[in-house]
Amino acid sequence: MASWKADNMSSCPTRDEPSPTLRGNVTAADRDAVRSVVEATGFFRPDEVLVAIELVDEYLAKGDSSGYGFLFAEVDGRVAGYVCYGPIACTLGSYDLYWIAVDPRFQGQGVGQLLLREAERRIVQQGGRHIYIETSGRHQYAPTRAFYDRCGYGIAATLPDFYDQGDDKVIWRKICLPLG
Ligand SMILES: CC(C)(COP(=O)(O)OP(=O)(O)OC[C@H]1O[C@@H](n2cnc3c(N)ncnc32)[C@H](O)[C@@H]1OP(=O)(O)O)[C@@H](O)C(=O)NCCC(=O)NCCS
Repeated sequence: MASWKADNMSSCPTRDEPSPTLRGNVTAADRDAVRSVVEATGFFRPDEVLVAIELVDEYLAKGDSSGYGFLFAEVDGRVAGYVCYGPIACTLGSYDLYWIAVDPRFQGQGVGQLLLREAERRIVQQGGRHIYIETSGRHQYAPTRAFYDRCGYGIAATLPDFYDQGDDKVIWRKICLPLG
């Protein structure tokens, strides 16, 4: 199988603190962990929080065949953040990053970047060629957009008023390149 690397991956810097551990297995306790992290960000409506938990339930019920992959970053045994990604149905090599969230107590310390880089590595390992992320164009998401930009994503499309009047959908993309 060909090996791939994500374009611009090396542009994400690494840091020393905190030093979270990453795990890809999902347990029933992660329902509460995901709820807690996603709620704590203050970014998501209650219905959106439920969707985040539903993805965990899907994985707990079906495992890898759910089409979702998870990574959890833990600091001192507690979940500081997580990412959920998966292949997009009816595409060859396109992946979606469905959720990424870091508990505000750990934001700005490199946790999100660590999660994203490892998710990218796994996606590339699985043959992913494009990674897509959808987010809101609202002012609240300016730091989130700065994060994606910093991690090497570019805006592929903007859909005006998609989520609501004045709330655009911004679609970010990173192109993965084959090694050598
Ligand atoms: C977006 C999010 C996942 C980023 O995680 P994080 O752990 O805070 O990010 P990191 O510390 O790894 O930051 C990596 C880089 O992103 C950029 N960045 C992160 N937060 C930023 C902010 N508030 N303002 C500007 N740039 C920011 C920086 O360039 C940073 O690197 P640098 O400090 O070396 O320049 C996290 O802030 C979060 O959970 N936000 C709320 C939920 C959310 O928006 N999720 C995505 C929904 S689509």
